[in-house]
Amino acid sequence: MHSQPRHLIDLMHMDRAFVLELFAEADRLRAVRGTPRAPKPLAGRTAALVFHKPSLRTRVSFTVGMHELGGDAIDLGATEVSEHGRESVADVSHVLSGMCDLIVVRTFSHTLVQKLGEHCSVPVINALTDHSHPCQILADLYTLWRMGRDLDTLQIAWVGDGNNVLHSWMEAATLFGFSLRVAVPDGFEPDGGLFIEAESKSKGGIRRTRDPHEAVRGADVVYTDTWTSMGQEAESDWRRVAFAGYTVDEKLMALAAPDASFMHCLPAHRGEEVTDAVIDGPQSVVIEEAENRLHLQKALMVALVGGGTRRTGRGRRAAGDRLEAMGVA
Ligand code: CP
Ligand code: NVA
Repeated sequence: MHSQPRHLIDLMHMDRAFVLELFAEADRLRAVRGTPRAPKPLAGRTAALVFHKPSLRTRVSFTVGMHELGGDAIDLGATEVSEHGRESVADVSHVLSGMCDLIVVRTFSHTLVQKLGEHCSVPVINALTDHSHPCQILADLYTLWRMGRDLDTLQIAWVGDGNNVLHSWMEAATLFGFSLRVAVPDGFEPDGGLFIEAESKSKGGIRRTRDPHEAVRGADVVYTDTWTSMGQEAESDWRRVAFAGYTVDEKLMALAAPDASFMHCLPAHRGEEVTDAVIDGPQSVVIEEAENRLHLQKALMVALVGGGTRRTGRGRRAAGDRLEAMGVA
């Protein structure tokens, strides 16, 4: 038995059994994908995809995933949904809850996703904010799980920026027993409050260092991400200077365990956070990670949206009430 979340906004309070059930469901969906046995549990359901930032993997995996599960996806942007836009977040939430079955949001402000979660009566999925990227880390954990790696004993090394993707890794460390060693340059640390909370709740520990060699030595997984996240483009020149020495190259990878995997959420900036030789090399699993976004998120959408009875949004209920009063419903 697991406790079922209403939304996926962050990993911190997620139930470990729920995550393991997602992995099993992702495998089941993957096995029948493209065959006549592929289920369509989301037939008649619609996901609203709200994207305020560019996306290849996330947008495509949610759109294709929804389609494969029998549902539809519609694209919305900042013109329709924003924190300080045409209408309040509460009004947007009530209206979307009346017409759609799922809201997937990629945006800058984490608060916007939290507010949507507060006001929407349908599930809300965080598809990346400046604070976190939980879908990515669920897919990464699923990738390692499929490789037969023990999520409770792995040593994971993070090399690079203390950003949204690292935050979700830190939160995942409270669910599984892997240890996390984080090498970030001075001034690019992850959120301090989150570090303290995740560190204290983590099972395998989270340690910080300035030295990528120390983080990577003996690690089972070496993970990096762009030095300049979306929205920080104006800082990219001085970030390149600040991150000198943090490139994952073959010399650094050689310090990891002989069977270590190289992971990156992509998009990669080759020659900056990672060299071609590493990202294209035999230890790299970046393409598997990207494909697993599809399988894992399909399982997630089925878990959050499918199965149960259709949720009644405030807007839908209000419309239903009016029809009832008119003798139509
Ligand atoms: N990894 C990831 O989220 O990729 P996109 O930005 O292309 O969606
Ligand atoms: N840290 C990166 C992740 C991209 C998937 C960003 O926010 O741009």
